[in-house]
Amino acid sequence: MKPVLLQAVTACVLLTSVCVAQKESVRPGINDSFKAPDVSTFVERFEKEGREVYDHREAIAKACNIKPGMSVADIGAGTGLFTRLLAPQVGKEGEFFAVDIAKEFVDHVVATSREAGLTQVKGVACTPTSTELPADSIDLAFICDTYHHFEFPYKTMRSLHNALKDGGKVVLVEFEREEGKSSDWIMGHVRAGKSTFVEEIRLAGFEVESEENFLETSYLVRFVKSNRRTPQGHTSDSVANVKQLLGNGTAVLIDVREQQEWDAGHLQAAKLVPLSELRQGPEATAKLPKNQVIYCHCRSGRRVLAAAEILSAQGFDIRPLPLGFDALVAEGFETAK
Ligand SMILES: C[S@@+](CC[C@H](N)C(=O)[O-])C[C@H]1O[C@@H](n2cnc3c(N)ncnc32)[C@H](O)[C@@H]1O
Repeated sequence: MKPVLLQAVTACVLLTSVCVAQKESVRPGINDSFKAPDVSTFVERFEKEGREVYDHREAIAKACNIKPGMSVADIGAGTGLFTRLLAPQVGKEGEFFAVDIAKEFVDHVVATSREAGLTQVKGVACTPTSTELPADSIDLAFICDTYHHFEFPYKTMRSLHNALKDGGKVVLVEFEREEGKSSDWIMGHVRAGKSTFVEEIRLAGFEVESEENFLETSYLVRFVKSNRRTPQGHTSDSVANVKQLLGNGTAVLIDVREQQEWDAGHLQAAKLVPLSELRQGPEATAKLPKNQVIYCHCRSGRRVLAAAEILSAQGFDIRPLPLGFDALVAEGFETAK
């Protein structure tokens, strides 16, 4: 990014992100047809020959590697095509959550699962910003043809991160979206291609584990929950990632140096939250957002580790930067006048 553009981005972050970030849907209207849906219409649409994921449903189910006793969630369960296929794999000793923003779908999935004797299936009517699953409750989340329907992908994926146990997995099945290859309908309906979605999911706190290539017009990627830290404890997010998340309002930036260091010069995009105040108790963090990434910097990348420990314990998505103040300025971050 050119310095001038970067300055505009960071200024914009300073002025607007703290109050307006993440309030805008990335795709307003994409879920209009799921408001009070006629379930039988969607059963015909989702459970029919010719839909690639329907035709390959058994292979997709196998690729999830579900074992008896696991706790699994089908996020955006729709009419329950995959819930009824996957739930038997967790067995009676396992748990299965059918999660959807449309209560009509959830009720239908629970009812049809009961008819099939799948008593382990529980319905969860969620919100557009959260899967509403309890913390540390699931081993695997399955997301088929649904990620592009997430209007608040970072918030939804963070709620999943919170719901997954350590080492938990996400299986993503999504439409390929490639200029000149994908249909006009896909190009218009799906907001971005694989590389964008994979990067968004990584930045929400996951790493790619593996992929399968048996689908033609879709892709299947497995992710594993990660804290995305280097061995030293710093975030593994790149400077470009940091700029991107600050620029689109997914993240805010705090400076954990002390007041006199701040007074001698600070970044325009940062907010001062001194480590000495963080150590005194939670009052210092009362105004920090729980639904945004918080990058923090100090002078040389040491104090951020102590700050991150305190903030992680309070449930923040805190990402300590290895780069200190001077290094960030050298990377193009604008200083306050
Ligand atoms: C295209 S359907 C896919 C249904 C099912 N996964 C399948 O492949 O047959 C997308 C589903 O995602 C649900 N959905 C949209 N946004 C959601 C969100 N933020 N959280 C959970 N479900 C969501 C919709 O209500 C809809 O049922």
